[in-house]
Amino acid sequence: MLIEARNLPRHVGIIMDGNGRWAALRGEPRKAGHREGSHAVRRVVRVARRLGVEALTLYAFSFQNWDRPADEVSALMELLVEYLVGEREEILGNGIRLEAVGDLDRLPPLVRTALDELRRLSADNRGMVLTLALSYGGREEIARAARVLAEKAVRGEIEPAAIDADMVAAHLPSLRFGEPDLIVRTGGEKRISNFLLYGAAYAELYFTDRLWPDFTEEDLFAAIASYQKRERRFGLVVPERREPAKVSRRSA
Ligand code: IPE
Ligand code: IPE
Ligand code: MG
Repeated sequence: MLIEARNLPRHVGIIMDGNGRWAALRGEPRKAGHREGSHAVRRVVRVARRLGVEALTLYAFSFQNWDRPADEVSALMELLVEYLVGEREEILGNGIRLEAVGDLDRLPPLVRTALDELRRLSADNRGMVLTLALSYGGREEIARAARVLAEKAVRGEIEPAAIDADMVAAHLPSLRFGEPDLIVRTGGEKRISNFLLYGAAYAELYFTDRLWPDFTEEDLFAAIASYQKRERRFGLVVPERREPAKVSRRSA
């Protein structure tokens, strides 16, 4: 798969889905799928960094995922700690800045400590921002922003009339490093499942049946190649497509 060095998506978001089905196909417990999925995370982070993607946001655990069986949730939390400890050198050595978005206060202390430490150690890195969406929900994030804005209005710090789309965006941590240009979902489902709702407004969407643990460098190239064939319009008219007759009629 060939991709252009120019016209790379600046910010890529990935809904890493299909771990459970990957395990079920092999008659293994779901957590075996999550473990294999963590290897796919390593592969994808490495190749995204090599390509020059500026921001990569990985949906690792949703706000709704807390309601899964307790043993699955704890297996996921353990894997997270393993990832954060095991990838420390790789992340720091490659100039990657690690960040996280979501309701991080709900994370177990062990996860929180490993996360905060790597965030602190990598804070000055400028290679690529890797954001883990953890305990993250797009609706919850928007609701929290609404609450913060309401509090500011009550304190008289902002005028309610001044609240516009840009001000809301400025209160969303998931958009701190820009809107996602490309959102990839693995595992075959064609839905957003509460990922980056606000920022997804004009993102290009790419769905693949590949289960997350099977996702390779080539699959990321295929997603980016698809992105590069698209014409982003953001609700505007692309100038060279405008019909001359219509333009002259309007100006007449
Ligand atoms: C994605 O895989 C990982 C998380 C949501 C944490 P799933 O666990 O949702 O796998 P499927 O969709 O059941 O196959
Ligand atoms: C989305 O996958 C969440 C993550 C990938 C972390 P889910 O498996 O939780 O979403 P649904 O249930 O298929 O919508
Ligand atoms: Mg799933």
